[in-house]
Amino acid sequence: MQELLSWIENEDDLILWSGNTFDKAFSLPIFLKHLKRENLNSFAYVNHKNDLFAYGEIVQTKPKIATICRVIVHPEKRGIGVGQEFCKELICWIQKKDKFNWISLNTLRNNLKAYHCYNKLGFHEVKVQPKARFLNGSWQDLIIMRRKI
Ligand SMILES: CC(C)(COP(=O)(O)OP(=O)(O)OC[C@H]1O[C@@H](n2cnc3c(N)ncnc32)[C@H](O)[C@@H]1OP(=O)(O)O)[C@@H](O)C(=O)NCCC(=O)NCCS
Repeated sequence: MQELLSWIENEDDLILWSGNTFDKAFSLPIFLKHLKRENLNSFAYVNHKNDLFAYGEIVQTKPKIATICRVIVHPEKRGIGVGQEFCKELICWIQKKDKFNWISLNTLRNNLKAYHCYNKLGFHEVKVQPKARFLNGSWQDLIIMRRKI
């Protein structure tokens, strides 16, 4: 938990990772409470030495839709494929549940690493919420992406 929280250094990191989930406040107790949400499954991606490489969640939002949320990769391991490998594992977990037709997720338009990572895994834009989040001094569009199971 402490390792994961150490990756969030400022308000912009928090918004990039979690959107408005923790818009009132963010701390370890708040995060632990968040993990108790109904229909939320959390996943850690660790190496053989148990070092945390990535974290993410799967939430059931609608009957046939699983949503991948709050994916984050260790800051020093970004841009080299860890996010894609981890998301493939999350997709496999969803597929094995055998009760979903769609997987959805969202990202900000300017989050190019996230956009490319998800796009390479077969996610396509289905909706845009213009100027949904304020980040790095400007309003950013939120892109909702989806792929068939
Ligand atoms: C978003 C995130 C999870 C993606 O994981 P990752 O390990 O960095 O992603 P990957 O390396 O698997 O894939 C990123 C792709 O974008 C490409 N990329 C990297 N920087 C880029 C840029 N500035 N512009 C365009 N593409 C870029 C990479 O080359 C890679 O594509 P490739 O496989 O064709 O080379 C990770 O960057 C992260 O933790 N970011 C901070 C938290 C966050 O934004 N979470 C997502 C919330 S939606």
